[in-house]
Amino acid sequence: MKILAIETSCDETAVAVLEAECASEKTAFTVLGNALYSQAAKHAEYGGVYPNLAKREHQENLVPLTVRALTEANLLQSAPKPTMINHSGFGGIRDEAFRNASIDFVNRYTKPDIDLIAVTSGPGLEPALWTGVSFAEALGAAWDIPVVGENHMEGHVVSALLEKEAADTVVMNRYSIREPEFPVLSLLISGGHTELVFAGDWFEYELVGRTRDDAVGEAFDKVARILGLPYPGGPEVAKAAASARARGGKNPVQLPRPMAGDDTGDFSFSGLKTAALYLVREKNTLSEEDIGNVAREFEDAARDVLVAKTARALEATGAKTLAVGGGVSANIHIREGLETLIADRFPDVALLYPGTDLTGDNAVMIGAAAYLRHQAGKSKTSPKGGLAAKGSLSLA
Ligand code: KG4
Ligand code: ZN
Repeated sequence: MKILAIETSCDETAVAVLEAECASEKTAFTVLGNALYSQAAKHAEYGGVYPNLAKREHQENLVPLTVRALTEANLLQSAPKPTMINHSGFGGIRDEAFRNASIDFVNRYTKPDIDLIAVTSGPGLEPALWTGVSFAEALGAAWDIPVVGENHMEGHVVSALLEKEAADTVVMNRYSIREPEFPVLSLLISGGHTELVFAGDWFEYELVGRTRDDAVGEAFDKVARILGLPYPGGPEVAKAAASARARGGKNPVQLPRPMAGDDTGDFSFSGLKTAALYLVREKNTLSEEDIGNVAREFEDAARDVLVAKTARALEATGAKTLAVGGGVSANIHIREGLETLIADRFPDVALLYPGTDLTGDNAVMIGAAAYLRHQAGKSKTSPKGGLAAKGSLSLA
């Protein structure tokens, strides 16, 4: 089964073509084509994601990226003469230039050998989500291929289950699904979300806790901005923190660990960011060493809170697997904190992460999650043209 997957929930425009196989109980995916464009540099001057810019960029890039992914997959052939396609589905694309580019695209090529189109339908920035959803629905109508909506956060959960197989000379990009032992606790940490989600079984979610204000990735981005580091701030803060740690010694600055010891599953990161802001304001000039110290203490505080809340949730739920996903799961210091927690206090719990190629937003995880749902008969299908983008879509 071949899946065309589309992700436009935030500031990455991503299109992937996956071939899924389900042999002897093991599900595997070969990535036949993968085209991803990060808008991060364009949003950098705003210090965060600017929704209307994200939408415009998705509109401009979706067609070229789809052409690229399908070409890479060897599934695109020029039509001998313009095909007579069903244009009805293109009415959902509101922007005229984007609509015309989409119509032109399906006219230029013959229908590709795709069985399912999967698109992120939420959560995320609604104008950005609609770009992907309307495009996916238009392609589905033109090619008469079913379209399913996929939850972005479920994509991040599934990214932790994808294990890259050793590259051989024939197939480079192959992932198999690690079957988790249930119950599974997922720690989802990204620029838009921070949540702990419990799953008693496949696709059966309960929310354990989530941030009451900023997401942890958002806090990394804001602290980076306070320190004069570029967007996206997560990797920059991590780098500055690592060099401060390498210098050694006790950190002269201190930040709070908001909500770390309370009896809820919830998080709060906005106070931590504000405390970092006050630390910086106290200083007239900010030396390289100051930047490193604040970054180090902020990263320590974020890690302490994430570890404390995860420990509490593991205890409360008796989960057998901890799956970590989202952009912040790339953070080495946080990974080490979680590894120590599991080794010291929960040695029977399996800890799963995505590979570094799948921590950030991507379309591979969306296609994989949609396929797993499809196989289980739990696809989020809707009548043709009826798929809606939902900014606040929840897993639970
Ligand atoms: O999952 P993601 O790519 O997009 C959303 O769905 O939000 O996450 C992006 C977030 C950004 O806030 C970015 O700063 C953060 O992930 N991030 C990191 C690291 N790499 C990316 N945060 C901390 N350490 C990192 N190494
Ligand atoms: Zn994400």
